[in-house]
Amino acid sequence: MVPLYLWVKALHVIAVIAWMAGLLYLPRLFVYHCETEPGSEGDRRFQLMERRLLRQIMNPAMIAAYVFGVLLAATPGLVDWSQGWVYVKLAGILVLTGAHHAMGRWRKDFAAGRNKRPQRFYRAMNEVPTLAMIAIVIMVIVKPF
Ligand code: HEM
Repeated sequence: MVPLYLWVKALHVIAVIAWMAGLLYLPRLFVYHCETEPGSEGDRRFQLMERRLLRQIMNPAMIAAYVFGVLLAATPGLVDWSQGWVYVKLAGILVLTGAHHAMGRWRKDFAAGRNKRPQRFYRAMNEVPTLAMIAIVIMVIVKPF
């Protein structure tokens, strides 16, 4: 029998992949959305894509990543809390969660036709989840300290 915690870990990684897909794609949609005229057909199409991505993929995926991650963290003896990488991973999770909520606010700005941020802002913000994800994966796999 495969131990239950391995199933939980598999579900955790699946949820993380879906969450990351959204965190990497939504800022790209914002970059292209900047090129549309407010009220145009293109504007409305991006609004729909952004709303669906956030509500149907990213929100449930983030919740699932947390639920399965906390279940793993609560499994006795699984995580060695004296190791430093655990806390760098936690910091990375905070960055991703902050990015998620910031993107939610930016989406609402586009939906209300009041986005004032330039395209290069969203291009730069695209790098934040990328860097946090690279750091987290190195922490959980390499466990360097
Ligand atoms: C959302 C909050 C999160 C919590 C509470 C959490 C917690 C955990 C815990 C406790 C483990 C088990 C560690 C072990 O088996 O040694 C784990 C495994 C893992 N987590 Fe997370 N995690 C979260 C988010 C993430 C994110 C955002 C990523 C990637 C970007 C990630 C990637 C992984 C990977 C790849 C594993 C498997 C590591 C292995 O098998 O050695 N986690 N997580």
